[in-house]
Amino acid sequence: MRRRSGAPEVDRIYEGDALELLPAVPSGTVDLIITDPPFAIDFKAQRLNYNRKGSNVIEGYQEIPEGEYGSFTRSWMAEAARVLAPSGSMYVFSGWNRLRDILEGLDAAGLTTVNHLIWKYQFGVFTKKKYVTSHYHILFVVKDPKHYTFNKIDHYPEDVWVISREYWKGRKKTPTKLPSELVKKILLYSSNPGDLVLDPFLGSGTVAYVARQEGRHFLGFEVVPEYCAFARDSLSGTTGRR
Ligand SMILES: C[S@@+](CC[C@H](N)C(=O)[O-])C[C@H]1O[C@@H](n2cnc3c(N)ncnc32)[C@H](O)[C@@H]1O
Repeated sequence: MRRRSGAPEVDRIYEGDALELLPAVPSGTVDLIITDPPFAIDFKAQRLNYNRKGSNVIEGYQEIPEGEYGSFTRSWMAEAARVLAPSGSMYVFSGWNRLRDILEGLDAAGLTTVNHLIWKYQFGVFTKKKYVTSHYHILFVVKDPKHYTFNKIDHYPEDVWVISREYWKGRKKTPTKLPSELVKKILLYSSNPGDLVLDPFLGSGTVAYVARQEGRHFLGFEVVPEYCAFARDSLSGTTGRR
């Protein structure tokens, strides 16, 4: 990303609201966005599912009120489309319950869907009268469907990915960490060394960490100070392996 006065520096994590930080990012400068935005569900009630020992979950997860989710989604996606380079692409994670808002936001932002991926993971929870949710939607969208990065690493790159969640047994983690393996797969397919990768809802910092590991530049925003600190620590190596 070209430096302009007031523009965020690359290879840094910024603490704050993505809706306030995104406008400072110069237009057309980001090659790839990978993001798992907040979901507008009562996440606190579900967090034990993500890390069986509640005391190892770092508190403070910031949610969006349900009635505001549509406008919140449209606002950040409009900014995401603006900051993407002409050949840029974005991967957005969504559970099934907010998928309608995510799809409408992508349409409103003028982005074109290339694939609707499914991430399938094991989820050891017990349900009585419904199926156990064990998948996520990942929308792979681009600015220009005729011109975008796609490094065809596998001969048959299928749209269902089976990748286990990381439980980080006995260690502190944030409640919704994406597996590094999943982020790495996206990075290798949809970016090249030296590209700039943005995650406006960084959480524990997986996207920044893996981007740096793979020789990409990164930029991350996170509103919860404890998560920001966790992400910065993991970049500097103090929280151990990812
Ligand atoms: C689903 S989590 C992201 C998890 C992340 N991909 C990881 O691997 O750890 C969404 C994150 O967005 C943060 N968040 C919520 N609202 C935000 C906002 N307006 N600006 C920046 N971050 C926000 C939450 O605190 C949470 O950490």
